[in-house]
Formats: sequence, C-alpha cells, structure tokens
Amino acid sequence: MQPAFLGDLDAVEAHAWFLLERGALDRRSAYHAPSIATLSPDGPQVRTVTLRHVDRTTGRLRFNADARGGLVQQLLADPRAAVHAYGAAEKTQLRLRVHATVHREDGVAVAAWQATNPSARRCYLVPPPGSPVDEPTSGLPMTLERRRPTEAESADGFVHFCVVELQVESFEWLHVHAIDKRRARFDRQGTGWRGSWRTP
Ligand SMILES: Cc1cc2nc3c(=O)[nH]c(=O)nc-3n(C[C@H](O)[C@H](O)[C@H](O)COP(=O)(O)O)c2cc1C
Repeated sequence: MQPAFLGDLDAVEAHAWFLLERGALDRRSAYHAPSIATLSPDGPQVRTVTLRHVDRTTGRLRFNADARGGLVQQLLADPRAAVHAYGAAEKTQLRLRVHATVHREDGVAVAAWQATNPSARRCYLVPPPGSPVDEPTSGLPMTLERRRPTEAESADGFVHFCVVELQVESFEWLHVHAIDKRRARFDRQGTGWRGSWRTP
C-alpha cells in the first residue's frame, strides 16, 4: 500500500513533523543532526547541530550552542537561517526557513543547562569555537581531557551556553522515491500551515 503522504498534504505535514520530532528523540535518526545555514559577512555558512527539542504545535525547534561561536554571533546579527536534513532510509529531504532567538542566561537556558550532563558541559569550558591555536588541541584543560568535570567545574561553562530557538516560517518536504517523487511547501499561517504541492 502506498503511503498517504503521496496524495494528501495533511499527511505530508504530519510526516515532516514526525521526522523532526523523532529526530529530537532518537540519536540514530538522520534528522537528529541537521545542518543550519546562516548569513555571515563572508557569505553563507553551514554546519551541523543536534536537535534537542521539537514542538509541532508552535512550529519551533531547539538546539544548544556556544554563544561565543560564529553560528550564534551570525544569528544575533541576522536571525534568518535555513535548516536542512535528509534521511536516506526515509528518502525525504526537509528544508526549513527559520527565524532564530538566542536564549542566554534566561529561564530557557537555565532549564536546558540543568538537563545537560557534566560531560556534555565540557564543550563550554573551552576557548571560543574557532579560536586559532599553535598546536592541535581539544581546547580542554589537561585535567579535564580524560575525565568528566564535576558539577562545580562544569558550572563555569554556563555563561557561554545558550539555547537557540528556531521558529519555522516555512518548510519544504521532498520525497525522492524513484517513481513516486513528491514535493510540497508549507507556509506558516496563524497557528497552522498552508500547504501546497510543488513539482519536485
Ligand atoms: C554531529 C555534530 C553535532 C553537532 N552539534 C552541535 C550543536 O548542537 N550545537 C553547536 O553549536 N555545534 C554543534 N556541532 C558543531 C558545529 O557543527 C560547529 O562546528 C560549531 O557550531 C562551530 O561552528 P561556528 O564556527 O560556525 O560557530 C556539531 C557538530 C557535529 C559534527
């Protein structure tokens, strides 16, 4: 039997959000680590992030980041961004046009920080991402290279930590089955989405 999304826009919309929601929950999902593209003075920049939370009712996604890095600095300068993920097993590409809000040292950041484990917090104990160095390094102090920081040690990272919230403005879903290729676009309209078919 053919999947409903081949002929039903509501099913396409549900499929896209299902893939994103599963991406946030399942680290083996191809949608767990999408790419986000930002605008920089040197042109577009793209990199991988880890999806932490997806809320289809609000159309929002979240990931954690180092507020000192180019990614966040670019989003602060221009909150327009694009997210991309492709699952080969699902044969489905998702492209999202988003507007980013950076949460730093607020309630959202505190709640997300409390949900991270000390090992993950090590990322925020290093010099700013992309800093030039004389020798190859993880950036971590030697004492933390091979062990988890204690709760107290990891607390120093909080000032660098932020949550990036992405409001999806529109998204495109592309299914690349050999015969039954389909493409659809969804634009945010009030609290819902206005879907339309496109040629693939
Ligand atoms: C699998 C994977 C997951 C990643 N997850 C994140 C993430 O959730 N947040 C983040 O800021 N960087 C993440 N990164 C690192 C970014 O891709 C990027 O290297 C980092 O944000 C620095 O980029 P920038 O110099 O543009 O700021 C991840 C990288 C990989 C390979």
